[in-house]
Amino acid sequence: MTDAFTYQGGSLHADAVDLATLSAEIGTPFYCYSASAFRDSLGELQQAFNGIDPLIAYAMKANSNQAILTLLGKLGAGADVVSLGELERAIAAGIAPEKIVFSGVGKSKAEMRRGLELGIHCFNVESEPELERLNLIAGEMGQIAPVSVRINPNVDAKTHAKISTGKSENKFGIPYERAETVYAEIAAAKNLRAVGVDMHIGSQITDLEPFDNAFALLAELVTRLKAAGHPIAHVDIGGGLGIVYEPLAHKPDIAAYAALVVKHIAPLGCRLVLEPGRWIAGNAGVLVTRVEYVKTGAERHFVIVDAAMNDLIRPTLYEAWHDIAPVTEPQPDSETMTADIVGAICETGDYLAQNRVLPKVVEGDLLAVKSAGAYGAVMAGTYNTRPLIAEVLVDGDRHHLIRPRQTLADLIGQDDVPGWL
Ligand code: LLP
Repeated sequence: MTDAFTYQGGSLHADAVDLATLSAEIGTPFYCYSASAFRDSLGELQQAFNGIDPLIAYAMKANSNQAILTLLGKLGAGADVVSLGELERAIAAGIAPEKIVFSGVGKSKAEMRRGLELGIHCFNVESEPELERLNLIAGEMGQIAPVSVRINPNVDAKTHAKISTGKSENKFGIPYERAETVYAEIAAAKNLRAVGVDMHIGSQITDLEPFDNAFALLAELVTRLKAAGHPIAHVDIGGGLGIVYEPLAHKPDIAAYAALVVKHIAPLGCRLVLEPGRWIAGNAGVLVTRVEYVKTGAERHFVIVDAAMNDLIRPTLYEAWHDIAPVTEPQPDSETMTADIVGAICETGDYLAQNRVLPKVVEGDLLAVKSAGAYGAVMAGTYNTRPLIAEVLVDGDRHHLIRPRQTLADLIGQDDVPGWL
């Protein structure tokens, strides 16, 4: 995958658009995505599975802007949705219902009704009570709900604890040992039909071994379920393939990942479903921010920028490391500094990087926080009454504001004061 964010003429560009020019036009901070980077990452995945015709159900929780969904949908992607909101977003972006899988542990009745009404590909069911509810609702609607049970294999994904989902202590899926009983219940239920089996063991997985172990278990189970007569037409292996955040880090090999999947899943004779999120979106976006102050504390230097943890919470929440580069290209002999890069929020946890060595910056300089295309804008909030920031999509030399900066009037205007105060 070629990097869409490169220095050209001394300034960092997204495709052919200068981030300094863009900053002057729309103000900072903002997210900037590259359409070519999205095309490349999805294309690489499609290429790796060439000949198998998988359903790539993009895990849109990673980045669900309508423009991004439209772009990916036109390239053939389906969607993995986890809420009514995501379902409506996918439909609004033109993604066909039969390419949508619905995941998540807490599906409401309204979400089930809407999924059934639209005719989505399947519900990835995560518990026995959820199956019961779905059976009931499908019955009320005179329908047969297509289901795929999410299996929890109790495999250690070797990733951050907060994004590990396939261990027995996690809330996700049905224990592996109960799977066959649950499929027997589905077969006996009047308004359910088992169409697949599903698994997702975690996110930002860079070591292929956990996948190897999980897919082996999954394949064994599917073989047993098919032998028992269950009409398993697809196998959904979830998402989770990690990306490179640190320039010199070990890069998960997409071809090796695909080979692993094919080794375990192809012999089953089922259609493959994938739910990648970060792999597609992560390196397709940056967060552009401006230095407000450079402050020298008693022990450390602080670069105080106009973006904060409410805009990108990953460093605070997962101790995530994002590369941070000055928009103006540093010279090889540029002086460096070691600093914490922090926002203006009144929380000690409000930082984008700690103890980071970077070329010396001064007030007014622009910085790009890299690999912010996944789980960036979608996880933003308005803490400290900071409006949601703008999002821009670049394609070649074109750019478009795909979400304007929220205004203070929007934000404050949502509150309502009772007349009796
Ligand atoms: N499928 C299911 C059922 C999921 O729960 C997830 C992610 C995915 C697919 C996509 O996983 P990916 O390919 O993106 O790894 N906010 C965290 C990541 C949370 C992931 C939650 N589930 C972060 O910023 O690292």
